[in-house]
Amino acid sequence: MTILLTGTSSGIGRATAEALLVKGHRVFGTVRRISDASELSLHPAFSALIMDVTDRASIAAAIETIRTSGETLHAVINNSGIAVSGPLETLAEEDYRRQFDVNVFGSLAVCQEALPLLHAAREAGEANVKIINISSVSGYVTAPFTSIYSASKFAMEAVTDGLRRELVPFGIDAVSIAPGPVKTPIWTKAKTQTKAYEGTRYAYILEKLIPYVENAEAGGVTPEHVAGVILKTLESSRPRPHQLVMPKSWVVRILKQLPKRVQDKIFLKNMEGNKRY
Ligand SMILES: NC(=O)c1ccc[n+]([C@@H]2O[C@H](COP(=O)([O-])OP(=O)(O)OC[C@H]3O[C@@H](n4cnc5c(N)ncnc54)[C@H](OP(=O)(O)O)[C@@H]3O)[C@@H](O)[C@H]2O)c1
Repeated sequence: MTILLTGTSSGIGRATAEALLVKGHRVFGTVRRISDASELSLHPAFSALIMDVTDRASIAAAIETIRTSGETLHAVINNSGIAVSGPLETLAEEDYRRQFDVNVFGSLAVCQEALPLLHAAREAGEANVKIINISSVSGYVTAPFTSIYSASKFAMEAVTDGLRRELVPFGIDAVSIAPGPVKTPIWTKAKTQTKAYEGTRYAYILEKLIPYVENAEAGGVTPEHVAGVILKTLESSRPRPHQLVMPKSWVVRILKQLPKRVQDKIFLKNMEGNKRY
């Protein structure tokens, strides 16, 4: 299969590119800096595309490169993402807008630009044509101080369901994969985001939050584990529309069913006690 995979510079995207290449797939992997693709580019089945998902022209140019390659595009994996953290009251407008620009509007723009190629694949008789959106457990339940990230992942769950239902007549599938904590650089990036707390009423939470984040990351699965789930989903003719990828995912499923006030107490207790949920 030929796959467009966004965000291959590190983490889940990098591990997924490697797993796809090992299985003999053809990968068009996106990076924002060409140097971030130097190792992957050593593989003959990997082509690096420069793309910033907030820059529509860069998305269109990347898709045009795939189109003119003459290869049939079977799947798009929207993996690029950022995690903005901070109290909703004090988050800077540019930060909460960037959260949606990258995770929601960026992923949607990639789908819009790539869909003509996916339709062409179906019209040429290809089976198993699909979009996989990398969501998160945060698209399932909302933890305090990562609420805007959660909002972006809830939005992507809705976009994925909408795409799947709108694309049924054309035989193109759309599914989401929602990992719990994964050991990737996204956590280190989140730990440096302290400006929304400093000098505000929420400054007290920082000393609890950093160990909480470190603890969550330490209990996380490897990016290779998530890559394995992505690979299986890609190759399946009827994958589950939504997969929660984390140990004891049933805990989250139960948590989601509890009354909201009970959920509130659990989140607050876990943050106090510096535990993972
Ligand atoms: N790690 C977790 O615990 C976890 C859990 C659930 C879901 N996820 C989701 O998994 C996906 C991958 O994250 P990760 O954990 O592997 O983190 P990561 O290592 O930080 O990877 C994020 C990728 O997104 C790219 N990216 C960021 N902004 C971009 C933009 N404007 N345009 C194009 N690409 C951009 C990054 O490229 P640069 O290097 O150029 O910034 C990087 O390749 C994200 O959607 C994330 O929300 C992660």
